[in-house]
Amino acid sequence: MARHAFTLNGQPREVEAPDDMPLLWVLRDLVGLTGAKYGCGEGVCGSCTVLVDGAAVPSCQLSVTEVRGSAVTTIEGLSADGSHPLQRAWMAEDVPQCGYCQAGQIMGAAGLLAAKPQPTDADIDAAMAGHVCRCGTYVRIRAAIHRAAQEARA
Ligand code: FES
Ligand code: FES
Repeated sequence: MARHAFTLNGQPREVEAPDDMPLLWVLRDLVGLTGAKYGCGEGVCGSCTVLVDGAAVPSCQLSVTEVRGSAVTTIEGLSADGSHPLQRAWMAEDVPQCGYCQAGQIMGAAGLLAAKPQPTDADIDAAMAGHVCRCGTYVRIRAAIHRAAQEARA
């Protein structure tokens, strides 16, 4: 057990946790932010995705030690009221079905748009390849990412 300090959704945060505890469990079990979901635990489904220093990463694959001093953003921190362009685009395109993968999908898209504000279809396919949706919402996800990018451009 040790104390680990990082920034979480814009606020300084300290947790007492084993050094090798995955960030996903820190967020869900210690902090109580349950937006990031457990899917595979192996870094291949994307449902646990958060931003670490602006980059989309699977939180099941990072230990709390590895995010010491970093800025972590979860779906809960994307906006206070669901007004982030991606969240609005997701609603406009009626993207979710069961919803389980969607927080991870949106955070993956947030990482993509931070790196490439006007992504092509190929950019979206490449960036979102690690995000599995068992409900098959991929076409709507792509449309929503384009919509959010368009809104940012306007
Ligand atoms: S639970 Fe982390 S990538 Fe699947
Ligand atoms: S909306 Fe059901 S898994 Fe993606």
